[in-house]
Order: sequence, then structure tokens, then C-alpha cells
Amino acid sequence: MIRIAIDGPGGAGKSSVARAVAAKMGIVYVDTGALYRTVGLYVKQCGIEPTDRERVAEALSGLTITVAYENGTQHVYMNGKDHGDAIRTPEMSMYASAVSAIPAVRAFLLETQKEIARQNSVIMDGRDIGTVILPDADVKIFMTASAECRARRRYDELCAKGADVRYEDVLREMNERDHNDANREIAPAKAAGDAILLDTTPLSFEESVDAVIALAMQTGAEV
Ligand code: DC
Repeated sequence: MIRIAIDGPGGAGKSSVARAVAAKMGIVYVDTGALYRTVGLYVKQCGIEPTDRERVAEALSGLTITVAYENGTQHVYMNGKDHGDAIRTPEMSMYASAVSAIPAVRAFLLETQKEIARQNSVIMDGRDIGTVILPDADVKIFMTASAECRARRRYDELCAKGADVRYEDVLREMNERDHNDANREIAPAKAAGDAILLDTTPLSFEESVDAVIALAMQTGAEV
């Protein structure tokens, strides 16, 4: 079993790189942001403000989240239904960031994440994987890139999906979200003390994938 933890801010390339590494190594890619996004979507459907800690915490009793992997793709089910790309909108990014600062939400998702890593060789991406979810990961990587580079990548990604967005808005929202995620009281997005910093600003996608695989290989852990 191998457990690779990848943390870092949005747009650093964590998810696309991790997905490619998982395919090449034949391990499971776990996108933990999708879990927070799903809680965000649920909270929105309930008509609750994502910053209303008490009401969000109360609403969790009506929510069951299950995760399944089908042909290497992660599906997150909210009370039995997979909402697909509805969790990927800029609005859901902000909802996810807001609900992720609520301790009850983090506690609610904790065991689901740990259990997936107990069952499978994984590369897991998020904000607190190396610090909270997998403190014993075989390798911990803190992946980052300049804010402009990250906003540009996220902007290109959204445009490719046909979204009508402005680069300036993507950059502003990304900075806002980074600030929330890095400064919250609980499990702030920060590098674990033993994490390796990987700045992908000057790297191509393939170079980033190769860098992660090289770090994973160095551990000597078996898939
Ligand atoms: O990785 P992402 O952009 O899909 O994550 C959405 C939000 O969820 C992000 O702003 C912070 C939160 N998150 C978190 O707090 N902890 C994680 N392990 C993953 C995501």
C-alpha cells in the first residue's frame, strides 16, 4: 500500500496531476474537495447560508455522503444522488470554502476520508491531508504555484467547460478563497512539517506528474 498526500491552494494543479499519477501508478485518486463541495451544494439546497455554523451543523443530520470509484472516476453521492459537475461551479467553490471552516463539517467528513485510505493505495488531494487525514502518509507534497499562474489555469479550465467568466474575477475569488482556507481556525491549509514543497509555476503538466511519481518512487513503498 502507498499513501500519497497532496495539499496546496486551488489551481496549483493538485487534482489534474493527482488524477494522472493515479492512472499511471494504478492507485485510487481521492478528491477530498469534492466532499466539501457536496456539503456546500446540500447546504445551498437547504437554503442555508454557508457561514451559518449552527444551521449548517444541524442540517448535517439529514445528509449522508458516500463515495464510490468506478473505472478510476470518483463519484460522490449526496443522499444517494450524484450531482456531477453541479459541484464544480465558482459559487460552489465559495460554498465549499465557507462550510469547510466549520468544525462539525470537518468532523462529519473525517472518517469517510480515512476509511478510503485504509482500503486502498491512494493519492489524496486537499488542504489537510498531510496534517490531519494521513499524518503517516508515505510522501507528503505541498503543491503550489504563483497566484496568477493558478488563476490562469483555473480560468482556462472553466472556459474549456464553456463557463462565461472573467480572469479578474477568477483571480479575486481565488485569492479570497486561499485567504479563508489558510486562515481558518480549524485545519488551516498549510504544509505539514515534513511535506516537500513542489512549485509547479515553471513546470509543464507532464513535468509535474513526473515529479510526483519520482517522489513516490523514492519512498520505496509498494503499490
Ligand atoms: O480542492 P477544491 O477547490 O475542490 O476544494 C474546495 C474547498 O474545500 C476549498 O476551498 C477548501 C475546502 N477543502 C478543505 O478544507 N479541505 C480539504 N481536504 C479539501 C478541500
